Amino acid sequence: MLKVCIIGSGYVGLVSGVCFADFGVDVTCVDKDSAVIETLNSGEVPIYEPGLKELLLKNSAEGRLKFTTDIAAAIKEAQIVFIAVGTPEKSDGSVDLSFVEAVTTTIAENLNGYKVIATKSTVPVGTGRSIEKMIRDKARADAEFDVVSNPEFLREGSAVEDFMRPNRVILGAETQKAIEILKELYSPLYLIETPFVVTDIETAELIKYASNAFLATKISFINEMAELCERSGANVHTVAKAMGLDKRIGSKFLHPGPGFGGSCFPKDTAALVKIAEGFDYDLKIVKAAMDVNSSRIIRSIEKIKEVTGGELKGKTIAVLGLTFKPNTDDVRESPAIKIVNALLNEGAVVKAFDPVGMENAKRDIIGEVTYSSDVYSAIDKSDVLVLCTEWNQFRRLDLEKVKELMVEPNMVDLRNIYKPEKMKAMGFNYISVGR
Ligand code: UDX
Repeated sequence: MLKVCIIGSGYVGLVSGVCFADFGVDVTCVDKDSAVIETLNSGEVPIYEPGLKELLLKNSAEGRLKFTTDIAAAIKEAQIVFIAVGTPEKSDGSVDLSFVEAVTTTIAENLNGYKVIATKSTVPVGTGRSIEKMIRDKARADAEFDVVSNPEFLREGSAVEDFMRPNRVILGAETQKAIEILKELYSPLYLIETPFVVTDIETAELIKYASNAFLATKISFINEMAELCERSGANVHTVAKAMGLDKRIGSKFLHPGPGFGGSCFPKDTAALVKIAEGFDYDLKIVKAAMDVNSSRIIRSIEKIKEVTGGELKGKTIAVLGLTFKPNTDDVRESPAIKIVNALLNEGAVVKAFDPVGMENAKRDIIGEVTYSSDVYSAIDKSDVLVLCTEWNQFRRLDLEKVKELMVEPNMVDLRNIYKPEKMKAMGFNYISVGR
C-alpha cells in the first residue's frame, strides 16, 4: 500500500491528509506543534471545516490515518512526502519560504530510498527547482528522489468536496516514475473522470497563481461594473447573469460585494505581482484587481455614510457577519473586519454578530465592539444595519422586527441579499451594491 507523509497539519495539509486516507492509502500527518497533534489524536479538528471531522474519525478508526510530531520517522516510512507548511506573506507582498526551506532540509537528512517530494503549499515559480537543488546539495550522494508540484484549489467551507471532486488535478513532474506514483495516489478520481494536467514543475506552480489571480480579477471586474451600474441606473445582477450565459465567460465569481478576502486571493495576487517583478515584468491587470479590491472598503464606508447623512461619530452600527465568507470561522483579510475597524476609527459605536467568527474577529478588531449573542440583539437600537457576510441565517431576517428594533430603518446590504423594491416598500432606507 502507498505510504504518504504530509508535513504541515494546517488547513491544506490536514484536508489533504484526511482525504488521501479516505482514498485508501496510509497517511501520516506531521506537525511541529505538539498541541495541534494532540488535538488531532484526540479526534478533534482544530479548524472549522464541514465534513472533515467525520472523515478524520472514520479513517483513524480504520487505521489509515496517524498524527505525529516525529517528522524523521514519518519521512523515512513514506514513498510520497508532501510539503504543506505555511508560506506567509512578507511585508512587501513576497512569499516567506523559510518553513518550506526548513522542511526541505529535514527531508534531505532523512532520505532512505526513492521518494516523491511534492509541494502542496502555494509556492512561487522556481521553488520546486530550488527544493531539488537543496536536497541534491544536502542529501547523500546516492539519494534518489523526484520533486513534484501538486497545487491544491480548496475553498474553505467546501474543502472536502473540492478535494474529493476536483475540477482538475495538476501534476508538475519531470520523470515518468514520479507521475505514475502520483497517478496511483489519485486513482480513485479516475472513476469520476477528473481531468489530469501533467506538465513541468514551473508550469504547475504558475497554474495555481494564475487561477487564483484570474478569479480575483473576475470579482474586481464585476465590482467595477457594479459602480458603473450605480451611476447609470443599470442592474449588476442582470449584467452578471447575462455575461455568465456566454460559456466563454462563465457565471461563477461574478457576485459583487465588499471585495475578496481570505487566506488566498489577497496573498496570492500580491505574491504574483512580486514574482513577476522578479522576472522584470509589471503585472498590470492583477495590480488593478488589487487596487479595485482595496477601494471596496472605502466605498462601503461611503455607503454607510450615505444612509446616516454623512456622519458616523456616535452612530450605532450593527454589523452582521465578520468572516470573509460564510461557512468558515476565518476572518483573515475579511472585508467585514476592515469595515468595522474603519467605522471605529470614525467614532462609530459598533455592535457585531457572526455565527462562528467572533472569537477570531476579536484578535483583529482594533477597538471596543459589542459582540452580540444573536442577530436581533446586535440590531437593537442601531442606526444602521450593515450586512457584511452572506450567512444563510441573515437571508430570512424578520424585517418587521428589524424595523421596530432599529432607531432608524437604515440598511446597507453589501452582499445584495435583499430585494431593493421590497425593502423600499417596507420603508427601509436601503442601499446595496450595483442595483
Ligand atoms: C479560494 C479559491 O476559490 C480556491 O480555489 C483557492 O485554492 C483558495 O482561495 P477561498 O479563499 O476559500 O478559496 O474562498 P472563495 O470561495 O474563493 O472566496 C474568496 C473571496 O471572494 C471571498 O471573500 C468571497 O466573498 C469573495 N467573492 C467570491 C466575491 O466577492 N464574489 C464572488 O463572486 C465570489
